[in-house]
Amino acid sequence: MFLFTLDRSSNESLTKQVYEQIRDGILTKKLREGEKLFSTRELASSIGVSRNVVLEAYEQLIAEGYLDVRPRSGTYVAKGSSLQVITDYAYVQSSFQEKNTECIPNSYIDFRAGNPAIDHFPRGKWGSLAKEICSDLPEHAFGYTDAEGAMELRDVLAHYLLRVRGVKCHPSQIIITSGATQALHLITELLCGKGNLIAVEDPVTDEMRAIFSYAGAKLYPVSIDERGIIPELLPLKENPRFVFTIPSHQFPLGGTLPIQRRVQLIEYARKKDCFIVEDDYDSEFTYEGVPVPSVQGLDPERVIYVGTFSKILAPALRIGYVVLPYELIKDFRKLKWFTDRHTSSLEQLVLARFIEKGYLDRHVRRMKKIYRERRKTLVSCLRKHFTDAKILGQAAGMHLVVELPKVSFTEEVIERIKQYGVIVYPVERYALQEGLHQNKIVMGYGSLTVESIKKGIERLKMALEEQSNSLQ
Ligand SMILES: Cc1ncc(COP(=O)(O)O)c(C=O)c1O
Repeated sequence: MFLFTLDRSSNESLTKQVYEQIRDGILTKKLREGEKLFSTRELASSIGVSRNVVLEAYEQLIAEGYLDVRPRSGTYVAKGSSLQVITDYAYVQSSFQEKNTECIPNSYIDFRAGNPAIDHFPRGKWGSLAKEICSDLPEHAFGYTDAEGAMELRDVLAHYLLRVRGVKCHPSQIIITSGATQALHLITELLCGKGNLIAVEDPVTDEMRAIFSYAGAKLYPVSIDERGIIPELLPLKENPRFVFTIPSHQFPLGGTLPIQRRVQLIEYARKKDCFIVEDDYDSEFTYEGVPVPSVQGLDPERVIYVGTFSKILAPALRIGYVVLPYELIKDFRKLKWFTDRHTSSLEQLVLARFIEKGYLDRHVRRMKKIYRERRKTLVSCLRKHFTDAKILGQAAGMHLVVELPKVSFTEEVIERIKQYGVIVYPVERYALQEGLHQNKIVMGYGSLTVESIKKGIERLKMALEEQSNSLQ
């Protein structure tokens, strides 16, 4: 059989964990059709659970047709079971790859980037503000409101963004969206018809790339180095509708764009009469030095600034925003109205009060300490277990990239690491131009405790050692 990873602290029962791991083993063909399984007694003693746990899991799998019992012989993987489900699995994977986070069982240590520490969400404060808002609000506030969002939030946001990110705008330039995801989708719809060109940093998040491609735009990959996008590589002959960049803390490589390149970007946009779309999703969390102000502050009429509360508070809020040049406000507002009329105004009002009362600043300060500690643990564990590890990017955000010069993170290697209960993400997954980042992985640490980070790196080390031994 294969390696089981049971998490005794999980809310999921041991029976469910055993059941899921055998079922996944069949789906991913680690357990082949006709293969004989351990007897319930053998499996129970090898993974340290009671026999009843395994019995119940086997019974469920037999009832669902994954396993067959052959009298006086044993329990086997049933014929045809993997074939049928593999087809469904492949469909789910290819139809929307970004869905994968939801299905990862708790027992894995998942280094996915961009997951904040949601266990630290300020539930108490948020809850009491929500109650307060609910009783304070006049009746009409429970009806439809303006597509651009609650003025209370846009007002405090304009002040906050100027103070914290150097964004220069009037509140009327801000439109509240359902996350940065919606903001980017609407920007693409507004500016790009089918076949129009978008110049995109490469590598970049697969989600953002998917948004642009889905709208029918053509992507022009612009390579980056350790400081971010290289403006000299922007298209000279073609005219992109916009350049997409994450200048504060590039995803995934983590560079911070120097001022000279920021100026070059603006000059390029002016010359080509296009926009710069600046995604500023996690810049509040900077652990060394001070955060560099936004590119938007350099030219508010050329830069569309996109932000989100998914990382500083929680993705579940679905509150993001876009700061627009004046000429785009009217059409963007219309598109937003057609899409969903407006983002939940009650949540917006709670958020406005949360910022106004200074709770957001306090929360960010608290989270910074937590993330700094997690990052420090990750870096020191990586250095301890991999003496040749190179850590890339600024000390910021909730992820880093590690380069292991002797490892190529192929699918086989990633799968081997997964068998050790750890999920890591190769930078190649985010690259438009393939083959340039094979020895790098992205490691998110935002949602992992110090203990899980330590355990995860130990397991990563074991998995890579086993992989290297199997090649000798
Ligand atoms: C680069 C980048 N920008 C923004 C976001 C946030 O998206 P949203 O605000 O829709 O949660 C993400 C999500 O992980 C991201 O990776």
